[in-house]
Order: sequence, then structure tokens, then C-alpha cells
Amino acid sequence: MIRSLRGRLYVGLTAIILLTGAIGSMFAYRWAFGEAIELQDSILIQLASLAQNASFSGGQPLHGVEEDTEVWLIELGKTPRGSADDRQLFTLQDGLQVATWKNQPVRVLLRTRPDGSRFAVAQPTAIRDETARDVAFRTLLPIAALIPCLMVVTALVIAYSLRPMVRLAGDLDARRADDMTPLPLSAMPSELQPFITSINGLLARMRLLMDQQRRFVADAAHELRTPITALSLQAENLASVALPKRARERVAALRLGMHRTKHLLEQLLALARHEAAPTGLAEKPLAALDHVAKEVVADLLPEAADRGIDLGFALVEPLTVRGEPAMLAAIIRNLLENALRFTPRGGTIDIGVYREDGMAILQVEDTGPGIASADMDQVFEPFFRGSRPEGEGTGLGLSIVKRIVDSLGGRIALENIAGIGRSGLRATVRLPIAGDPDSSPSKGKESRETQAPEPGCG
Ligand SMILES: Nc1ncnc2c1ncn2[C@@H]1O[C@H](COP(=O)(O)OP(=O)(O)OP(=O)(O)O)[C@@H](O)[C@H]1O
Ligand SMILES: [Mg+2]
Repeated sequence: MIRSLRGRLYVGLTAIILLTGAIGSMFAYRWAFGEAIELQDSILIQLASLAQNASFSGGQPLHGVEEDTEVWLIELGKTPRGSADDRQLFTLQDGLQVATWKNQPVRVLLRTRPDGSRFAVAQPTAIRDETARDVAFRTLLPIAALIPCLMVVTALVIAYSLRPMVRLAGDLDARRADDMTPLPLSAMPSELQPFITSINGLLARMRLLMDQQRRFVADAAHELRTPITALSLQAENLASVALPKRARERVAALRLGMHRTKHLLEQLLALARHEAAPTGLAEKPLAALDHVAKEVVADLLPEAADRGIDLGFALVEPLTVRGEPAMLAAIIRNLLENALRFTPRGGTIDIGVYREDGMAILQVEDTGPGIASADMDQVFEPFFRGSRPEGEGTGLGLSIVKRIVDSLGGRIALENIAGIGRSGLRATVRLPIAGDPDSSPSKGKESRETQAPEPGCG
């Protein structure tokens, strides 16, 4: 059983073409054969009419252009005479018939002249049949030539007719996992429309379900924020109360736990906020990636200084991309927070914002340990914290970054930097450039010292 619709159509239609061709050929052959025989009979009749008033002696061959089209004119006289063959012919009645003459079957036409003398016009049946077969066979040539052409045309028509289906499958395959926009119904063949309507119904139900889930996460995170904030305030207040040493240690642990929980809630809220209103890339606002990067860096400079890490731009060019500034900031903040958390004191974090191959590149390089190669495949999964989890991480940061980058039509790549006496992680985000404010790449380069955001930007 052929599973492919295209295969079934092709096999079915080819069978019909071949069957029609075979039946048509059979009829055409028989018809042409009969016609050719009749034509040869009429030639015999015409020859007999010509010979009606002439008399000739014995059996006389008349050669046509070709040797094998020979016709015999046989004078039989008024009474049986001559050879045994001639006598035999004489016994036959006037008219067309098949007889034996000179040891071969012949088609023979006998006539009697008004004076009573008889004659015969004869032609070997073997030659007649061969001529007729030849003529009949020629009628089959156009059919034989047409069949392969028809098969090719059928294949093309099938491929053309099934194209919308193939396109539909391609469109579905190329979709982002979270893209629940309905499939277009117009310009689709009517047979596919019920199918598309069903898929659209399914997409709508899935969107509803995903929306409910997102709203639940957002609501839960939001609801938890207030009590957690109150709790951490209480814990902060405890710090100023004179307590015995052991109680102070417990309070410190409590404050750390509160801090982690707040961070988890913030990450969950960031995730929920990003997922809340998924819009098409074209509807997203334009944002200056370099400005957003400078703001985030300025925010994190005090923390970098605390940790004794040299945080700064290696290269920054003015670049405009599509995306909400808060989302772009979330990408940069998460990458920088990771770099800060994993880079040891005295290390360096280099940020690059530049254009390459028509894409906006955001690069963060640190001098930390990098990510174990066994963990590389999983770091983008929510709550994955790797084989050496550090500090207060939730494991959500990179998954948030990945989702935002995907929704902005970009890509993110992580690679370990391996050099002599050097390690670290290089995170590279590529985003499509929107607009083209300034296309000279080296113009916006700044030294490591100018890290603070430009006045009035953002
Ligand atoms: N710059 C880095 N150097 C070394 N390891 C890293 C780096 N960035 C990420 N990782 C590894 O990838 C894991 C996942 O990172 P991710 O940002 O998703 O979560 P997190 O940093 O643990 O939590 P959060 O970002 O919510 O604070 C980290 O726990 C860490 O093991
Ligand atoms: Mg992180």
C-alpha cells in the first residue's frame, strides 16, 4: 500500500493512461489493419476492371515500386487448361476469395469476360498482411509517443496541485514553538480548508492554555512578591537588633534565603512579563542597543567594583534593533550577572556591541571558568544550574535570555574561551539590525574608560 498521496495519484493516473493507451492502440491497430486490407482489395478490383477488356497470356507478375508488392494477372481461358494451379483457379466462382497458387496462399479476384473467357488477379496474402501490419503499426506511433509525455505532464500537475500542502507543512515546521497565530485560509485549496480550520482551532486552544499558564505564573509571582518583600524587610530590621552571636548567624542565613527568593521571583516575573504579550517582530519598537547596554553596565559598575572585576566595553557602535528596551536590558543584565558571578576577583569582563555581517552583535566575555562541556546543551533549560552552581542563581537567567533572543528573531551562542593561561565564557547574541542610523562601523568605538551612559540617552 502506497502511503504517499502523490505516489497513489501518480500510480493510479499512470495505470489509467497505460490502460487507455493499450485499449486505444488495440482498436486503432485492428481498424487500420482492416482498412489496409480493404484498400488492397479495392486495388485488386481496379486492376480487374482494367483487365476486363484486355487479354494476356499465362500468369504475369506486375511489379510495384517494391518487389514484394507484386500482383499476378492470370489468364485462365474459356475452359480449364494450363498448369494444375490454373485449373484449380478455374473451378472457383467469380469474386474475391482466398486460394492457393504456386504453393502460397493468395487473395484472388476471379472475373468472366462477356465472351466467356476467365481471368484472375491474385496477390500473396503474406505480402498483403505485411503491408497492412506495417500501416497499422504506424498508427500506433503517435499514441506510443504521447504516453510518456502524458506521464510527465501528470507528474507535474500532481506536484503543482500538492504544492500548497507541502508549503503548509514547511510553514508549520518553520514556526517558532510559541507562535500560535492562525494559519492563513485564503489562497488554500478548498480540500485543505477544513484541515487548516481544525489546526487553527487547536492553535487557539493551545494559545488559551498557554495564556492561562503564563497568567498563573505571573499572578503567583506577583502575589508572592508582597509577602516576600515584607518578610525580607523584617529580616533586614533584625540586623539592627542586638542579638546573640548564634541568632545573628541564623538571621544572616535567613536574609540570604530571602534575597534568593526575591531574585527567583524577579526572574519568574521577567519571564512572565516577556511571555505575557507575544507580538510580531515588526510590531516591536525600535531601540538603541548601545544605549541600553551602557545603562545596564552603569547599573552594574558598583557591583563589579565590589567584586574587584574590571567591567567595560571593548567595542561599542551605535546600533538600532527591534525590541522593548526592558527586554534588551534583561538580555544584557542576565549575561553580565552571570559573568560577574563566575569571574574571580581581579578578572575582566569585556562587552562588545558592534555590527557584523549585517547583524547586531552583543558579546560578553569573562575570565571565569567557562561552562563544562557536558552542561552546554542544557544551560538554556529553565532551572538548570550546571554542575558547579554558584551563589544565588535560579537557573532561569539563560532560558529567559534565549526566549527573548528567539522572539526578537536572533540567535545566541555560548563558547568557552580556551587560551594559554586563560579561560572564560564568550556569550554572543546576534540580532537583526533595524533601520540604519550610521553605517560606518568604526565611528562609534569608545575606549574602556567611557563606560557611563551618555547624558540624556535611553
Ligand atoms: N559566565 C558563566 N561562566 C560560567 N558558568 C556560567 C556562566 N553563565 C552561566 N553559567 C552556568 O549556566 C548555569 C545557568 O545559568 P543561568 O543564567 O540560566 O542561571 P543562573 O545564573 O544560575 O540563575 P539566574 O540567572 O536566575 O541568577 C549557571 O548556573 C552556571 O552553571
Ligand atoms: Mg544567570
